[in-house]
Amino acid sequence: MFFKSPLCVLAAAAVLCESATAAAAATGSDRNKHGACRKTTVAILGGGMAGVTAAQALHNSSISDLVIIEYRDQIGGRAQHTTFGKQKDGSPYTVELGANWIQGLGKPGGPENPVWTFSKKHSLKNTYSNYSSILTYNETGYTDYSHLLDEYETAANGMTIEAGRLLAENLQDQSARTGLALAGWNPKHSDMAAQAVEYWSWDWEAAFPPEQSSMIFGAAGNNLTFSQFSDENNLVIDPRGYSAIIDGEAATFLGKGDKRLMLNTKVVNVAHSDHGVTVHNEDGSCVSAAYAICTFSLGVLQSDTVKWQPELPKWKETSIQKFSMGTYTKIFYQFNETFWPGDTQYFLFASPSTRGSWAIWQSLSTEGFLPGSNIIFATVTNDESYRIEQLSDERAKQEGLAVLRQMFPDKHIPEPLAFMFPRWTKTEWSYGSYSNWPVGTTLEMHQNLRANVGRLWFAGEATSAEYFGFLHGAWFEGREAGEQVAGLLQNRCVKVYNDKEMCGERTRYEDLHGTSPLHHYNLLNGWATSSFFASKRRRDA
Ligand SMILES: Cc1cc2nc3c(=O)[nH]c(=O)nc-3n(C[C@H](O)[C@H](O)[C@H](O)COP(=O)(O)OP(=O)(O)OC[C@H]3O[C@@H](n4cnc5c(N)ncnc54)[C@H](O)[C@@H]3O)c2cc1C
Ligand SMILES: *[C@@H]1O[C@H](CO)[C@@H](O)[C@H](O)[C@H]1NC(C)=O
Ligand SMILES: *[C@@H]1O[C@H](CO)[C@@H](O)[C@H](O)[C@H]1NC(C)=O
Ligand SMILES: *[C@@H]1O[C@H](CO)[C@@H](O)[C@H](O)[C@H]1NC(C)=O
Ligand SMILES: *[C@@H]1O[C@H](CO)[C@@H](O)[C@H](O)[C@H]1NC(C)=O
Ligand SMILES: *[C@@H]1O[C@H](CO)[C@@H](O)[C@H](O)[C@H]1NC(C)=O
Repeated sequence: MFFKSPLCVLAAAAVLCESATAAAAATGSDRNKHGACRKTTVAILGGGMAGVTAAQALHNSSISDLVIIEYRDQIGGRAQHTTFGKQKDGSPYTVELGANWIQGLGKPGGPENPVWTFSKKHSLKNTYSNYSSILTYNETGYTDYSHLLDEYETAANGMTIEAGRLLAENLQDQSARTGLALAGWNPKHSDMAAQAVEYWSWDWEAAFPPEQSSMIFGAAGNNLTFSQFSDENNLVIDPRGYSAIIDGEAATFLGKGDKRLMLNTKVVNVAHSDHGVTVHNEDGSCVSAAYAICTFSLGVLQSDTVKWQPELPKWKETSIQKFSMGTYTKIFYQFNETFWPGDTQYFLFASPSTRGSWAIWQSLSTEGFLPGSNIIFATVTNDESYRIEQLSDERAKQEGLAVLRQMFPDKHIPEPLAFMFPRWTKTEWSYGSYSNWPVGTTLEMHQNLRANVGRLWFAGEATSAEYFGFLHGAWFEGREAGEQVAGLLQNRCVKVYNDKEMCGERTRYEDLHGTSPLHHYNLLNGWATSSFFASKRRRDA
């Protein structure tokens, strides 16, 4: 486990051994038709939060010989925004297609979410998102079933405590469905109001229903973000986009037009050996490196976009196919007026036939967001996302309009001025939105997703045991992978998470066990903090 490269004996010799290993990787079949591959010390695959942070961590460790290879024409990854609709002066609004909230900010004296720290540093415009500012509807219009929100919350708190016991006593994981039912929340399939409440409370975050989600790790993840930092969620509404914080951090070490950033470059083949990694791109270019850090989404890893040479070992491939990639779809409408209650942020719709169908509507026209914009968007996940992605834009638009007409039967609802939604499941550089832990997972299984395969390292939202699904998860994982690879190159142990020392390669498990004993919840398995925090209700009021 305490791996030392035979070629890298002294930290001072790092540069020498790097070029030797890169050269080794570039010989023979690794050479492309244009001649030798471009050489670098660390190739970072992907320029989202994790890739940029890994590069910054390397830079901080004085390793500046690196290359970031990115599919898109800009960095930021799933922190992706676009222009939408029109303002009074004719210029468009900016809306977020991917990450939108800073989730869990921080308490005075307590740890702070790094994304919150960056949002202050880069003056990111954001507003408190009030999950209690919600009205409930069904196919007949407004109907108050908001008492169910509190009923759900009481049961969810019970499940969280029981999940903590299962984790601490190394007992078998259950589904969140089981956990909720045992804690007293067990709605009938035909109770559409309760189904809508459950969808809002669980699926809207996990992107999967409770029966497809781990009870232990769903609850632990909630604790680690919302009890450790704080229970607040701030919605980003910055005209530069949420990715302004990634751009801002990248600018601390990447110059304008920096040759180390390869944009518009699709990686298609990765050859890896004990000596190095050679990355082949669709345009015929290639990069040879001593190490590579792959930050592609779980969806990309699960697809066959990238060929690995040799194929990834069984333990790695199993972990990739074990975890789930969810889809979370925001569907935007701009109208010529705000016909919904202008001071409310959320509108929950209980479809009479299908759980989660056009269930959540969120106003951007509300004070503090984009007042006067007349923009509202629906959010769907999972099966509804897959179904709606198959519709034409026009059919999707009409479906949503029909729902709005049921919710607001007394209003005249005109055709929208603008309509748009991303199809995340079909997006070639992401194949979904973010990851979730399925039922019956263990920390060991997940550790295999994080573990390196020789000189090929992995980082990203999905490799975070504690913060999967979140932008801050990508940041923590990018930092750790960057620091660990720097440690290997410089033949030293690294201090991560303040004082804890990490050396060499990551732990992996060739054979998986049914559960993971409590002493495995440590830094070597990607678990730096305790998930047992003072109980705090997530919903205010
Ligand atoms: C709809 C949606 C809503 C979300 N909401 C929130 C939220 O509110 N709050 C929150 O904290 N998080 C949210 N997230 C999650 C957050 O966006 C991600 O956790 C984070 O952005 C992931 O960063 P990453 O660096 O791990 O991966 P990515 O951002 O996916 O970065 C990977 C990069 O690799 C590139 N790439 C992929 N394949 C290739 C290839 N073959 N060749 C070259 N480059 C390639 C991609 O273009 C991408 O830039 C949301 C995500 C989505 C999609
Ligand atoms: C790199 O160092 C800078 C300056 O100290 C710091 O702000 C940044 O967070 C560091 N990056 C990482 C990934 O640790
Ligand atoms: C959130 O909304 C609820 C319901 O409208 C309201 O009572 C509460 O004061 C709001 N909280 C904040 C912090 O604005
Ligand atoms: C979550 O936090 C609560 C409150 O501190 C604790 O009782 C519970 O055991 C924790 N659950 C998990 C899974 O960490
Ligand atoms: C919006 O458009 C509808 C019909 O297209 C029209 O009846 C309505 O008066 C318009 N509202 C405003 C505020 O212009
Ligand atoms: C919708 O709400 C109305 C009014 O409260 C109620 O009569 C009706 O049964 C509800 N529909 C469903 C499918 O529950």
